[in-house]
Amino acid sequence: MPTQKKSPFIYGSIVSVNSFTDREEDGKKLFNNLVLGINTILVSPRRWGKSSLVEKVINDIKRERKDIKTVLIDMFTVSSEEEFLELFTREVIKASATKWEEWVNNGTAFFKKLIPTINIGLNPATDFSISFNREELIKYKDEILNLPEIISKRKDVRFVIALDEFQNIAMFTEYQNIEKSMRAIWQRQKSVSYCLFGSKRHMMTDIFDNSSKPFYRFGDIIWLQKIERSKWIDFIVSGFQTTGKRITDDEAEYIARLMKDHSWYVQQLSHYTWSKVRTVTTKKHIKSALQEVIYANTPLYQREIEVISSTQLNLLKAVAKNEQQLTSAKVMQEYKLGTPRNVLT
Ligand SMILES: Nc1ncnc2c1ncn2[C@@H]1O[C@H](COP(=O)(O)OP(=O)(O)OP(=O)(O)O)[C@@H](O)[C@H]1O
Ligand SMILES: [Mg+2]
Repeated sequence: MPTQKKSPFIYGSIVSVNSFTDREEDGKKLFNNLVLGINTILVSPRRWGKSSLVEKVINDIKRERKDIKTVLIDMFTVSSEEEFLELFTREVIKASATKWEEWVNNGTAFFKKLIPTINIGLNPATDFSISFNREELIKYKDEILNLPEIISKRKDVRFVIALDEFQNIAMFTEYQNIEKSMRAIWQRQKSVSYCLFGSKRHMMTDIFDNSSKPFYRFGDIIWLQKIERSKWIDFIVSGFQTTGKRITDDEAEYIARLMKDHSWYVQQLSHYTWSKVRTVTTKKHIKSALQEVIYANTPLYQREIEVISSTQLNLLKAVAKNEQQLTSAKVMQEYKLGTPRNVLT
């Protein structure tokens, strides 16, 4: 029996090492910004590859710059200010030293007003937590926000801190307070640079691009672009090749084109196609894989559709049919869009 090779195409998880393509320029820019101390905000629609890119850059920094400590926090599941502050402390402390004995020292040495409670389990690498009295935590949060700078000065190191799904801070009660403190304190830090990124584009834009908000002009904004078609072609062809299968440039181009170069979908369609092919790919394989991709994603689309109004859905249909004049009487009537206001707002 032939051994089943692992698919060279990955979707659904971060792809910073295997299955990672292109992004050289964005990667270089982000790397340089962060090591030079320029705060950077990274925005793109969902599933284009922000988390993958940042993880790759953080790994590069770790490897190439021993003088820089790196922290990567995903705020996706963080739902309160207190939770964030404790997580931030723990990760900064963990990044500050390689030995857990030192974490304990650092955990107590670097605070003036706050008194941390440190818990260490059997396996300190995974079982290490720091907590504070909740009231004091909020009162003296500046100490925590300033922790990386204090450690940098004392230990003569620098920090790069990346916060994924940053727009989640808007979910905290009274988040305006912490937003102001973050900006005020982080902006002053000389040895720490921040990479803040997330996928809710309008929320990210509101946080960073709105002149009345504290984070306005906090740093360089990178609008992540799609990966180029030609890169996808090389990537797909070599993925097939290294696993003993064949696909032509034309067919690889067809996959990328069908998916409009969208990172997640290109990987998904490539994977489905790859699974169908024994040795040589044909268009037929791709077409039938496409059906499967649509089928696999249908429940997700249905869930999206459940929460929008019928007018919104009709508007989407009009857009999908490539209607140009959305507020024209003809289009409004044909798609039952009601009044022009429904379309404009
Ligand atoms: N550089 C890349 N090369 C190849 N595939 C990629 C790359 N970046 C992302 N992908 C594909 O896109 C998928 C989504 O990537 P990732 O999770 O990094 O995106 P994201 O922008 O952080 O998404 P979200 O907005 O959901 O957080 C990955 O699982 C992978 O299939
Ligand atoms: Mg992400």
